[in-house]
Amino acid sequence: MLEIINNTKRTTTNKPLVYGAFEKTDTLAIDAKLDDELKELIKKEQISFKLGKINKIFTFGKISHDVLYLIGLGKKEEYSYEQLEESLREVNYKLGDELHFDLASFSLGLNDEEVAKRIVQTIGIYNYHYDECLSEKTTNQLKLKFISEHNLKSALEEALWLVTAIDNTRDLVNKPYNYLSASDLAEYALHLCASLEDDKVTARIYNKQEIADLGMGAFLGVNKGSTAEPKLIHLVYQNGSQKPIALVGKGLMYDTGGYSLKQSMNNMKDDMAGAATVLGVFELVVKKQMPINLQLIICATDNRINGEALLPDDVLTAMNKKTIEIVSTDAEGRLTLADAVCFAQKQGCGEVIDIATLTGAVVVALGEYTTGLFGNDQKAIKQMLEAGKKANEEIWELPINDHIRKQVRSSKVADLTNSTGRTMGASSGAAFIEAFIDKPTKWMHLDIAGTSFHTSPARKEPYGATGVMVKTLYQYLLNQ
Ligand code: BES
Ligand code: MN
Ligand code: ZN
Repeated sequence: MLEIINNTKRTTTNKPLVYGAFEKTDTLAIDAKLDDELKELIKKEQISFKLGKINKIFTFGKISHDVLYLIGLGKKEEYSYEQLEESLREVNYKLGDELHFDLASFSLGLNDEEVAKRIVQTIGIYNYHYDECLSEKTTNQLKLKFISEHNLKSALEEALWLVTAIDNTRDLVNKPYNYLSASDLAEYALHLCASLEDDKVTARIYNKQEIADLGMGAFLGVNKGSTAEPKLIHLVYQNGSQKPIALVGKGLMYDTGGYSLKQSMNNMKDDMAGAATVLGVFELVVKKQMPINLQLIICATDNRINGEALLPDDVLTAMNKKTIEIVSTDAEGRLTLADAVCFAQKQGCGEVIDIATLTGAVVVALGEYTTGLFGNDQKAIKQMLEAGKKANEEIWELPINDHIRKQVRSSKVADLTNSTGRTMGASSGAAFIEAFIDKPTKWMHLDIAGTSFHTSPARKEPYGATGVMVKTLYQYLLNQ
């Protein structure tokens, strides 16, 4: 969908030229070849360089490019990578199938390689669309070419990896349940590993019997009412000397709520976004050949009802033998995550990061553009926040306090309760998972219930899956 080429010389193509300009610019270098006509247009306020404004200029043969797109970069004094990304939100296949970027016009005061990377990433991400189930396909083919003196090869390659991984993540999330069951996801994971062609990668899929043999009673409880088999997906990448880091993704292929049935369950195909995210990150880590040990763990199932289904008041026994009273069968994600983090620690992982569409409460608290972060290690939390900043994905830390820890342990009939009522919903989910983390394991939890799927995009992003946190987690691991 996206192809990138680094050109050092100006070519004689008629494809559009894309050029960045700041507010209050009155002369542009390119204008010399256009008989100073841009100057006139600026003077007459017929074009402007407000952030994100796209001005389409026909060049009538004065330069080889038929069209010049002047992109508004906003205020020069405030220019940053974030501002650059913002300026590009509407640059996509609709402008043409091949765009030639004058890199220097975008990189004022910034690093050329990083600017090229951000251009590819941003346009790649905004150029995405999901048409698997449409009979009429749109071709969003887009080639980006860069006119620059710099050698951008490795920067562009890495950016393209990122776009591909994020798009793969979004494809998985956008697929309806009848296109992607737990077994299909397991197959995808195996296929991904095979395609990476790396003997440092190993994969194992556990079936229902093998999951039972591991003692994962919480995970199996969620699957009880489903006719589809659960799958435990375990991928390993070994290329370091430290204890492995585990990435655990919530893999609820569909969440109906179970007998605590959701009133509105539309879009709950997105409840496996955590799993899709960690698969995207895994792909990147292997391509980048990061010098780390990484393990990926996904407890994949759907949450449905039949005569066998889990009931409120049931008590489940997790892999670590802790018992859980089911207050709501709709608080199912934490059940699967409990067993997943136990499994991660049993594998010897020293750090566990789980990512999950866990609570509606986090959406109420932080909205659709901010991911909630919890954890037991302030240094790691700080690093994750910094990675989010660098990746231009907003994250906010939320608390786990003793009050909520106590509530999670307030069941009269079991060690833990899976739901604690209306207040502090996001923290309650986090505190529940935390109860399965043993010292000295470092642990973080990212709640992406609000950020992973956008039904009314407010920032020009495509409808549906966002691929949020792939960039941040990649950046976090790069810094390790
Ligand atoms: N998958 C949902 C959370 C969710 C909500 C994801 C909105 C995406 C958008 C989760 O399994 C859930 O149902 N959580 C319950 C927990 C409650 C019963 C303690 C919730 O948030 O209502
Ligand atoms: Mn639920
Ligand atoms: Zn759920």
